[in-house]
Amino acid sequence: MKYTVYTLFPQLISLWAQEALLGRANEKGVISLDARDLRKFANDKHNRVDDTPYGGGAGMVIRVDVAVRAIEEIRAETPPPDEIILLSPVGEPLSQPMVEELAGKDHLCLIAGRYEGFDARLEAYVSREVSIGDFVLMGGEVAALALIEATARLIPGVLGAADSHHQDSFSTGLLDYPEYTRPTSFDGIAVPEILLSGHHQKIRSWRRKQALQRTLERRPDLLDSAELTDEDRAYLEELRNET
Ligand SMILES: C[S@@+](CC[C@H](N)C(=O)[O-])C[C@H]1O[C@@H](n2cnc3c(N)ncnc32)[C@H](O)[C@@H]1O
Repeated sequence: MKYTVYTLFPQLISLWAQEALLGRANEKGVISLDARDLRKFANDKHNRVDDTPYGGGAGMVIRVDVAVRAIEEIRAETPPPDEIILLSPVGEPLSQPMVEELAGKDHLCLIAGRYEGFDARLEAYVSREVSIGDFVLMGGEVAALALIEATARLIPGVLGAADSHHQDSFSTGLLDYPEYTRPTSFDGIAVPEILLSGHHQKIRSWRRKQALQRTLERRPDLLDSAELTDEDRAYLEELRNET
């Protein structure tokens, strides 16, 4: 997967991409990450990319002509991006199904804003607008990195264990079950006995139940679209009756 990010702060992206799993994936060539400076598309002698908003109001708005010149640059390259994504608080909320869809692409171009964001006419030039949540960041770089991290970890060869994301929260439609490691007892709290039993079938069943219980307690909305067996439904009914 190739990621191209247009931003006023390319270093924020490239520094992040040098470390940990993303850094290793970049080194191995499993992904490539190219952070480009939006400022180079300014066409006045002061390199200005923003201007005051029409109609008045606080803050500055990034000019549409500046951003469109960046889009024209990337569209002219081979391979052109499969998607041009504008990070924006008014975009479609990022979700695991969207992450899975995007992880199947070959080249994503991400555009990160600053100030009051972009001139609204930019919307006509992008394939989608994506929000990482109902809050406002100072800039789109962290949002772009969230999208990159979430998609990159689904690309074969990026995570250590090939299938270690398959039971993660949301991948199964449920929240993840609780995990434990050494010591077996800490501050009087013991690891659940079943996990030390070596009985894989029982452990699988216990984990499924824990995932169902957590989801019911913390994110019951997810149960509406999760794939549930009759056994899952019966267990949920049992839990609801208990409470
Ligand atoms: C200060 S924000 C602009 C906020 C905008 N005036 C609004 O209220 O919708 C500047 C930039 O940060 C990024 N940003 C902020 N919050 C975001 C979010 N929740 N999801 C994605 N991008 C976000 C966008 O790229 C945006 O252009």
